[in-house]
Amino acid sequence: MEKNKIKFIIDFDSTFIKLEALDELFNISLSSGSSKKNALKEFEDITSKSMNGKLSFSESLSSRMKLIKADRTHIEKLIKLLSRKISASVFRNKLFFKKYSEDIFIISGGFREIIVPVVSKFGIPAKNVFANTFTFDKAGNITGFDISNPLSKDNGKIEQLKKLGLTGELYVIGDGYTDYELKEAGIAHKFFAFTENVEREIVSSKADHITPNLDEFLYLNNLPMSISYPKNRIKVLLLENIHPDAVSIFKDEGYQIETVSKSFDEKELCKRIKDVSIIGIRSKTHISREVLDNANRLIAIGAFCIGTNQIDLGTALGKGIAVFNAPFSNTRSVVELALAEIIILMRKIFDKSNQLHNGVWDKSASGSYEIRGKKIGIIGYGKIGSQLSVLAEDLGMDVYYYDVIDKLALGNATKCNTLYELLKKCDVVTLHVDGKKSNTDIIGEKEFKSMKEGAVFLNLSRGHVVNIESLVRYLKNGKISGASIDVYPYEPSGNDEQFVSMLQNIPNVILTPHIGGSTEEAQKNIGNFVPSKIIEFINTGNTFYSVNFPEIQLPQFQNAHRLIHIHENVPGILAQINNILASHNINIIGQYLKTNEQVGYVITDIKKKYSQNVIHDLKKIPHTIKFRILY
Ligand code: NAI
Repeated sequence: MEKNKIKFIIDFDSTFIKLEALDELFNISLSSGSSKKNALKEFEDITSKSMNGKLSFSESLSSRMKLIKADRTHIEKLIKLLSRKISASVFRNKLFFKKYSEDIFIISGGFREIIVPVVSKFGIPAKNVFANTFTFDKAGNITGFDISNPLSKDNGKIEQLKKLGLTGELYVIGDGYTDYELKEAGIAHKFFAFTENVEREIVSSKADHITPNLDEFLYLNNLPMSISYPKNRIKVLLLENIHPDAVSIFKDEGYQIETVSKSFDEKELCKRIKDVSIIGIRSKTHISREVLDNANRLIAIGAFCIGTNQIDLGTALGKGIAVFNAPFSNTRSVVELALAEIIILMRKIFDKSNQLHNGVWDKSASGSYEIRGKKIGIIGYGKIGSQLSVLAEDLGMDVYYYDVIDKLALGNATKCNTLYELLKKCDVVTLHVDGKKSNTDIIGEKEFKSMKEGAVFLNLSRGHVVNIESLVRYLKNGKISGASIDVYPYEPSGNDEQFVSMLQNIPNVILTPHIGGSTEEAQKNIGNFVPSKIIEFINTGNTFYSVNFPEIQLPQFQNAHRLIHIHENVPGILAQINNILASHNINIIGQYLKTNEQVGYVITDIKKKYSQNVIHDLKKIPHTIKFRILY
């Protein structure tokens, strides 16, 4: 057994800690002034050259030591700073260091006086730290370094490791060329390029494995980790020019990201989705059953838009894939446009502007009205409708609304019991219903006829809800004095296709190309909202705001492992889960269940210590769709 035991040779600077300690010591020791920046740059350049293998280590060390004018107090300050600059994945895997402390060796071209106090907090004994040592004068000023130490010389790490005569498999983790050289020299068995803080192409290209963090190293070597799965293994594919905020949120989480500006057709998507864990799309990409059948690793779909008709939601759910969208990220944008259009229509600004472009100066007030005191009728009092209600009232409008569902009236708004009650009363009628099929033509001949003489009409919801022929007739006969239309029964598939509609060239009609929600702010909101929900789902199991999953808002879990079991909604699964847990004597800290017609979603938080057999048994419960463990 002892023969194959792994020994871990870990570099200190830019690996165990986030930065280069000597650079920081130099920084701390410099008094501030205009020349500080240049001096620092010169120093860092020397460090970097040697890390990339472009300057011998001994030359780099002696040139830098000549520049440093520091003393013991500077070292103390540096140690304090470095305790806060531990690499994130090293910090979170403290338990690994404690458990394997005897087998972990820090071999570094840095300095013992700095390294030992920092790594000892992780349980690494001082005897396992091999590094240079400073020389000091009586006053505590650094006068140089011990030049007899092998680590101060070229190939020093190689000499040091040889001298140690370690047995077993020697794995080296580091970011520098000198770390790779241990493998090249044939003393170490494997070299892992650690790229969490800095990635050097020349080093990565030589590595047996590139490990973007310590989690990946531990996962690869089947060692205990503090998190359930290395995040760098989660591959995200973002199509259709999704907002850059989404890219940075996923990147900060540690995921691998691929962005593509266009959408893919089904065939291409089937190929590209195979190893993807999260896909982000907008309205053009169709996620069909075929695509989902090829999505072997998919955990979540992000619809970076409002609608989700382009996704086979049922099939996704059946495979345990959660879909998230951004249901209200552009609500405000639609409301602002509606308000602006109401004013423009009531003042006939659009026609006045067109006339003036053609040289006609018509300064009359006739037919132009303020919106103050006018009655606005909002059909569909959902997210947009209710928001519009508040802002329209702020502008002095008298608000009426009608919704098929009983909705709380905001502010002084008045609820109408029927659509016709609203139509008869209002000077402005604006549609904000959802686009379900049964809403087709809900505003047609009879409804326009019921409206007030001279009313204005807006549709920024969905095209098919209005009968266009009727609208045109009532615009032309003057009963409707103006309209703003943003959505159409048929909309061009892209910017190249010409738009044709009976609504064109009618006075006081504003036509916009489905841009109600299209603002920079909305795109940014969407780019932030969707990733945050997906990340929460992955990290905690929360499905709040999921389009297809049973919605569940879970409490934080601490000192527990969270078992997530997704199954077909057949009777008795919860009982089976609990029987298995009981038979393994497992202490349940919390359990949550939510079902919908298709699936059941059971989350169980248990104490950290349990036999792996329980996992095996839970996965084997018939009708299980997906099972994951979070910690
Ligand atoms: P929502 O779902 O929050 O609200 C819709 C409301 O309409 C619900 O309260 C519902 O009960 C009600 N409703 C449904 N059918 C009705 C009917 N026949 N009569 C009366 N009330 C009815 O939706 P949200 O977010 O407010 O969006 C409203 C509409 O705006 C949707 O059609 C949406 O697709 C569209 N939209 C358009 C955008 C654009 O760029 N023009 C951007 C964002 C949304």
